[in-house]
Amino acid sequence: MVERVRIDHVGHRGDGVCVDAGEAIYVPYTLGGETVEVDHVAGHHPDRRKLLAVEVASPERVEPFCPHFGVCGGCAIQHWAAEPYRAWKRNIVVETLAQAGIACEVAPLVDAHGAGRRRITLHGRFGTHDILKVGFAAASSHDVIPIHRCPILDPALEGALDAAWALAEPLTSKMPVTKPLDIQVTATANGLDIDVRGSGPLPTQLITALSRVAEQHRLARLTRHGELVLQRLPPTVTMGRAEVTLPPGSFLQATVAGEEELAALVTEHIGKAREIADLFCGVGPFALRLAEKARVTAYDSDAGAIAALAKAARTPGLKPIKAEPRDLFRRPLVPPELRDFDAVVFDPPRQGAQAQALKLAASKVPVVIAVSCNAATFARDARLLIDGGYRLEIVVPVDQFRHTAHVELVARFTR
Ligand SMILES: C[S@@+](CC[C@H](N)C(=O)[O-])C[C@H]1O[C@@H](n2cnc3c(N)ncnc32)[C@H](O)[C@@H]1O
Repeated sequence: MVERVRIDHVGHRGDGVCVDAGEAIYVPYTLGGETVEVDHVAGHHPDRRKLLAVEVASPERVEPFCPHFGVCGGCAIQHWAAEPYRAWKRNIVVETLAQAGIACEVAPLVDAHGAGRRRITLHGRFGTHDILKVGFAAASSHDVIPIHRCPILDPALEGALDAAWALAEPLTSKMPVTKPLDIQVTATANGLDIDVRGSGPLPTQLITALSRVAEQHRLARLTRHGELVLQRLPPTVTMGRAEVTLPPGSFLQATVAGEEELAALVTEHIGKAREIADLFCGVGPFALRLAEKARVTAYDSDAGAIAALAKAARTPGLKPIKAEPRDLFRRPLVPPELRDFDAVVFDPPRQGAQAQALKLAASKVPVVIAVSCNAATFARDARLLIDGGYRLEIVVPVDQFRHTAHVELVARFTR
């Protein structure tokens, strides 16, 4: 059913929100103040509408720069001028903290798009009529939108799409259409590092075909579910003074600028601490920089990431880094262990670090730095620290995922 609605504002997920008789209706790709023609969306989204036409456009509307915008699910916002977009993104953090009853200074948004995304996950599958599609998932569906070019990628990912198409060709022809292939591509100092998932067991001739594609595309490394298919050169990234060889599939910040900005904020806000715990450390982008001045003990549940960090920690000139695998959801550091540190940084996945925040709240660590990619779970964990007696001094929002509703932040707590 086609309707005309007026958009009130852009919500925290990037969709325009229309409040109709007390009920919120969400319309992607619209802006506050716009009058738009919309249609219902088939299936299970009674509160979502599809944009058909913008009848009265916002003065803040701009022309999207990518031909796939509006279909590809990779970007939610390319149609909004930079300044109101930046104000909206900072406001996601401001409003989320206010809703949780947390009063705190929120700094201006730090832009961390830099040269663009250095890591992407593409999907590949055969569509109808046996036509191969490789690209990003469509907005709100599992369809694959075929793409050959993406303007938000770091130039270091040059060739990533061609390589993904070439790898998907032999693999998807053997797979059921319902199950797309995931192709994670990371730009490294020695070329592209690709991990392919979802193909299941493969016959030897198919593995040989994949390693031929890896050679042809001059990949640094090709793995399947983390298992080596071919390595021409070690896939390394530089973190501070150290060179880290990436384990397949481990976490890595999405842009170089994002990693550098987050690490610089962590280093600045941690101050003069000499004994630091880096919790949820990944391959060590914070630990390896903090160790230029302080001793660091680092924990993560990903054993591959910990091994990579332990190796990089041997870089000459760094203070000692102790890196240990540990599940911090099940076995958070407890107050007697936390006594060893004069600062703690924690950077959990999206679900936050509730168990660890509870233990930190009961500790006497004078400085705690939180890094988060989810303002809502950060607010929940911050509440635990504040109720335990910490003061939240400042929150700095960081825009690593430009054109999306994701926002990162760095926060400083003291007691
Ligand atoms: C947002 S990443 C941050 C990694 C690192 N600080 C960085 O900036 O690259 C979150 C990290 O938490 C780790 N992780 C996820 N669940 C965990 C758990 N239960 N215990 C410990 N680490 C966990 C992941 O392996 C990942 O390295």
